[in-house]
Order: sequence, then C-alpha cells, then structure tokens
Amino acid sequence: MLSVITILVVSYLIGSIPTSILVSKFVKGIDIREFGSGNAGGTNVFRVLGWQAGLFVTLFDMLKGVAVVLWVVAYFELNQLDQMPDINRVALQLLAGISAMIGHVYTIFAGFKGGKGVSTAAGIMIGIAPVTMLIVLGVFFTVMLSSRYVSLSSMIAALSFPVTIAIRKYIFELGNGLDYYVNIFGTSHHIHDSLDYHLMIFGALVALTIVYTHRANIQRLRLGTENRVNLFSKKEK
Ligand code: G3P
Repeated sequence: MLSVITILVVSYLIGSIPTSILVSKFVKGIDIREFGSGNAGGTNVFRVLGWQAGLFVTLFDMLKGVAVVLWVVAYFELNQLDQMPDINRVALQLLAGISAMIGHVYTIFAGFKGGKGVSTAAGIMIGIAPVTMLIVLGVFFTVMLSSRYVSLSSMIAALSFPVTIAIRKYIFELGNGLDYYVNIFGTSHHIHDSLDYHLMIFGALVALTIVYTHRANIQRLRLGTENRVNLFSKKEK
C-alpha cells in the first residue's frame, strides 16, 4: 500500500512542475496565466512568447509524462516489485499517469492552477502505447491542419486513443501486442487479455479530463471566437 501511495504522490509531483509558468517568468518576467487564453500550457506560450518557448514547454511537458512512466518502472525494479503480475504493473502505471495529469492541471507549485493536461497525457501515452500514439498524433495533425484549432485537435485526438484501441480489438481483433513489443520502458511483453480494457478505461478517463479542462474552449468554439493558429505566421487570429 505504501508503494502505491509513493508512486502516486511522486507522479503527482512530477506532473506538477509548472513548466509554462517558470518559462514565462524566466523569459519575459510575466505569468502566462494573465495573458492570451490564460492557460498555463505550450499553446499559450507559443501564442504569447513565440514558437521557440512554446515548443520547449510542449516538449518538456511531454517529457514529464514519459518520466512518470519511467519512474514507475524504476520503482518496480528498485523495490523488487518486478515480480508483481504484469497486469497490476500496467494498472499502476496508468494510475500514475492519471496522478501526473492531475498534478499538471492542479499544480501544488502554482496555487493549483495549471494547464489542460494535453502534452503531459501525450507523454504518458507515448511511454505506454507508442504505436497507438502514432495514430493519435496523426488524428491531431489532421484536425489541426484542417481546422487550425489546437483545442479541438487536442480533444478529438484524446478521444481517438480509446477509440483506436477499441477498433483494433473489436474490428481487427488485434491486441496491443505491437505497443508492448516496441515499448522500451520495461512494460511486459506478455499480452494479457484485460490489458486492452485497462487502456480503454484509462484512455476514456484521460479524454474526459481533457474535454473538461477545455470547457472554456468549447464555449468559444460554439461562439466562433476560439483562437485559430495561423500556420503562416507565429501570431494567432
Ligand atoms: O493544450 C491546450 C490547447 O488544447 C488549448 O490551449 O491556450 O488555446 O486554451 P489554449
């Protein structure tokens, strides 16, 4: 039980690192939450401070997600928990991922007002299900290039994660073997039947969280006032 609490608390703290707030303070002496969309995330840093800072924040936030997956694996090894049944290890990794997302959105280091969780969720999913994430990233860029709304692309991409796993399982009758085969983060190569269910439930929870954190964006999309990325200039309109 202590192991589970340690894993969840450390994952929450890793997720809580307020990258965009630190970068905006360091680069321009501002709090990113008072500018642009008010969101403490890579898209808003891109909007307010330019693509270099935006890219750095996005990549670092993704790295937090990957770090959580790595940290859980390292914890298993250091504490001889690698004997734990594979499915329990994956379930703990997924719970740690949710904990990191909560940290990103409700960061203890910045008054519990963080970002929307997209990059951190992407990093966690890259660590756990890299092949599925290739499809999810494809969905993200397709929606992004056709609509130029980052928020809409983020929500549809998040929803496409559990849907991709369901299609793979029920239509093509493929498990997540490929994901686990190429996974370099120590997750088992043995495929367990209930793994897909774990991933679907995890993916659905992440997608619901991301839709919830985008409620102001949904409102703006409905009113037609949401920011669009202008692909030919760093400014949005
Ligand atoms: O990752 C957040 C993005 O989907 C929306 O950001 O600043 O436009 O609310 P923003």
